Amino acid sequence: MLRFETAGESHGECLVATLTGLPASIPISVAQVNHDLWRRQQGYGRGGRMKIETDAAEIVSGVRHSQTIGSPIAIIIRNRDWQNWTEVLPVESYEGDEEKKKPLSRPRPGHADLAGAIKYNFADARYILERASARETTARVAVGAIARQFLAQFGIEILSHVIQAGSARIERPVEWEEIVALSKKQDVLLGCVDSEAEARMKAVVDEAYRTGDTVGGVFEVRAHNLPPGLGSHIAWDTRLDGRLAQAILSVQAVKGVEIGEAEEAASSFGSRVQDTIHYQKQNHRFFRGANKAGGLEGGITNGQDLIVRGLLKPISTLRKPLESVDFATREPASAAYERSDVCVLPAAGVVGEAMVAIVLAQAFLEKFGGDSLNETRRNFDGYIQQVREF
Ligand SMILES: Cc1cc2nc3c(=O)[nH]c(=O)nc-3n(C[C@H](O)[C@H](O)[C@H](O)COP(=O)(O)O)c2cc1C
Repeated sequence: MLRFETAGESHGECLVATLTGLPASIPISVAQVNHDLWRRQQGYGRGGRMKIETDAAEIVSGVRHSQTIGSPIAIIIRNRDWQNWTEVLPVESYEGDEEKKKPLSRPRPGHADLAGAIKYNFADARYILERASARETTARVAVGAIARQFLAQFGIEILSHVIQAGSARIERPVEWEEIVALSKKQDVLLGCVDSEAEARMKAVVDEAYRTGDTVGGVFEVRAHNLPPGLGSHIAWDTRLDGRLAQAILSVQAVKGVEIGEAEEAASSFGSRVQDTIHYQKQNHRFFRGANKAGGLEGGITNGQDLIVRGLLKPISTLRKPLESVDFATREPASAAYERSDVCVLPAAGVVGEAMVAIVLAQAFLEKFGGDSLNETRRNFDGYIQQVREF
């Protein structure tokens, strides 16, 4: 069973992640992990924090001589901002520390502040926001980067792009090759493959900058070259659609998940939404008329590209704050403002890639198992042979 865990506060010393259950002898490049961390920091609309942090992963166990060794992988990513917070968030209390605290006492609607402070019985929401913050997704991206390198051994690639920012949306189909080309760009704007649509998206973000507001939207994650047969129809918790939905919904600010063309399907007749089945006799293979199902039928991959979308609400910290209540006085007050992003769509897409990579790596290992990469590969090759002979 492949499992991972993250720890760390947004302004604490560092983020920590562990990943347990990968086979031994998978080649691992730390540079590739750092490249994914860099991608998570890009995009038009990010706040000042991204200028402070240049994330770099330190792998402290489970990888030796650039290969996994089968034991748990532990990763540390240091917060450069910690140097400004040592007196605010010390591990051990010290004399006079009460004055150094930075209480968050005017909870932000839409953030975890109020619900978390009530639940944990804190006088203010500082400790809640420190963990609820999407800074945590840095650790997920590092774990996802390792899972991605495992899946790449079998030719599986995972990428994302943005299809909507506020009301601006790309209205045409997008080819896999366009997403690959986008992923190689050094200057990330809003992560859309189409420059005209991206310009419309940028105009929406610019308006939010002008008015002190924030922007949500939709990102799409695609997994390419997947074998058919990952996940299973046999039980509610083995269905890959449900598992992917949980993974994507667990990303901070994601409020909806769409698999394939779910929204369009819900308002169409059945004859328009199913992917018709055909057979090429000369090379003995099935093929499909379209991919509206997003590569999943019955919770099982069907060999087409997996398409999962995350619907992101606008960020809840507003420069022009909403109505709230002060914890101390119980009087009406403007919600707190902490240095914050205005739009995080491309970054959320990179986090979505990481979550999809982790879920796919889990499903892949459930099916093919193995304590070493060679053993996994033997099992995989045998199955692919069986699929060819089907
Ligand atoms: C990449 C990324 C960056 C984010 N940055 C911010 C931010 O700067 N300010 C903010 O208020 N929320 C930000 N969020 C969203 C909050 O973390 C999230 O809204 C909050 O934890 C409450 O969770 P919920 O919206 O899922 O209910 C970000 C989310 C993502 C995915």
